[in-house]
Amino acid sequence: MGRTLWPVAAWLPIVLACSGGGGSPGADSAGADGSVSDLLADGLAKDGDSSKPSGDIAEAEGAADVLPVPDAPSDGRAEIVPPVCMEGTGGSPILADPDETFDLGPYLMSPTPTAMTVMWRTLDAADGLVLFGKGDALDRQATHPGEATVHEVVLEELEPATRYAYRVESGGIQSKVHHFTTAPDAVQPVRFAHFADNQNGPEIFAQHVLAMAAWGPHLLVGSGDHVQAGLDEPLWKEQLFGPARGLLHQVPVQLVVGNHEENSPFYYQLMANPHPADHPEWESHFGFRYGNTYFLVINTNYFLCPIGEVELPDGQHMRELAESPEAQSATWRIALGHENAWSECWGDGDCGYDGTLCLRNYVVPLLADRGFHFYLAGHTHAYERGQAANMVHVIAGGGGGSMDAWCKDWPQTSVVHTAHHHLRFEAGCQTLRMEAVDLDGNIFDWVELDKDAPGVLQDQGPIPDLPPPTLNSDR
Ligand SMILES: [Fe+2]
Repeated sequence: MGRTLWPVAAWLPIVLACSGGGGSPGADSAGADGSVSDLLADGLAKDGDSSKPSGDIAEAEGAADVLPVPDAPSDGRAEIVPPVCMEGTGGSPILADPDETFDLGPYLMSPTPTAMTVMWRTLDAADGLVLFGKGDALDRQATHPGEATVHEVVLEELEPATRYAYRVESGGIQSKVHHFTTAPDAVQPVRFAHFADNQNGPEIFAQHVLAMAAWGPHLLVGSGDHVQAGLDEPLWKEQLFGPARGLLHQVPVQLVVGNHEENSPFYYQLMANPHPADHPEWESHFGFRYGNTYFLVINTNYFLCPIGEVELPDGQHMRELAESPEAQSATWRIALGHENAWSECWGDGDCGYDGTLCLRNYVVPLLADRGFHFYLAGHTHAYERGQAANMVHVIAGGGGGSMDAWCKDWPQTSVVHTAHHHLRFEAGCQTLRMEAVDLDGNIFDWVELDKDAPGVLQDQGPIPDLPPPTLNSDR
């Protein structure tokens, strides 16, 4: 399931309006002169090496994202008012009340400022209708043609950052009334939560869901292994859509394919990700813009590294997304993949995996060169954070699977913690803050970036007391 790639033309007005803050690929990266690989190899870009904001940046505070005013049209049309970033991400607690009317859902995907995709699954093929409207109204409707078990209806011509009510009707049955909020305009702050490797720990994942709901994200993103075995169809409900049901009624989600998804057809049936019509496999390998943040979703099961000098199609697709106007005009760029570049944890005394070479030597340097701020991964069931060439890399594999044990040191990694956790981000006009939260609600690590000062601006620093790790043999 899923829609085709959002046309670049649809973004052009936004990109043109934002071009004053976008810059060319790598413009924000200190390693853009080709020295990134050297930095990574040497492990020079660690916490403590971060740049401090300059006087120029301080002067710019308060004027963030105030875009140049275009010349007034000479043909009598009204003057175009450029968008201005309004600081603050809000975030009201969400009551995650599961509605079990249908087998799965309704859940929300592919959010834009003017559209939202509503999906649900019925046990038998049925028609599908969504009633929706601003506030609490249900005065509009949209439907899909024919009958289906996995239903996908796109609500269009919506207003940005606006709360809508909706109710699903299918096979003569009605869901409860739910609400969502559309994505904000392209320069506005966003608030999102991240989880990974929840897989065979649905009870733990359910605790994360409640905590994320209480925090009130605009968007959920995940770095894979969201089910233990993707080809085992019931697990998609038992381990992902069931535990998260109450939150997914109200907050859109976009998810990465990990190794445990097994590149299953169920992923492609149940997701609605933008992709080119002639490349259905890229529904797991895509990018999208949400407010001032661009998300690049990488399928690390694909061959992303060149062979010699020859760039392979999946690697080319990833690079072109990273260099796209939607990515480069964003205030913040976040890459999401499953496998990680540097892993300090794995088996107890057994580093059978210590990161993925292709990510370490090619993907991470490429993204850093193009001004990405974070690479968020899973695969290793632990929390790890470091910095490489001004890009923060985080392993956040604490969604529910049993935890890994520390087994080696990497100079590119500075913080390790072996406890279940999820991440939350506030992507503001000037700063981006990430917090890592454990099951007790403790913020055990945090980091803050300034958009005008590449690298980490401030962070938590070392974590003194690590809990004893448990041996994991099931990643
Ligand atoms: Fe995993």
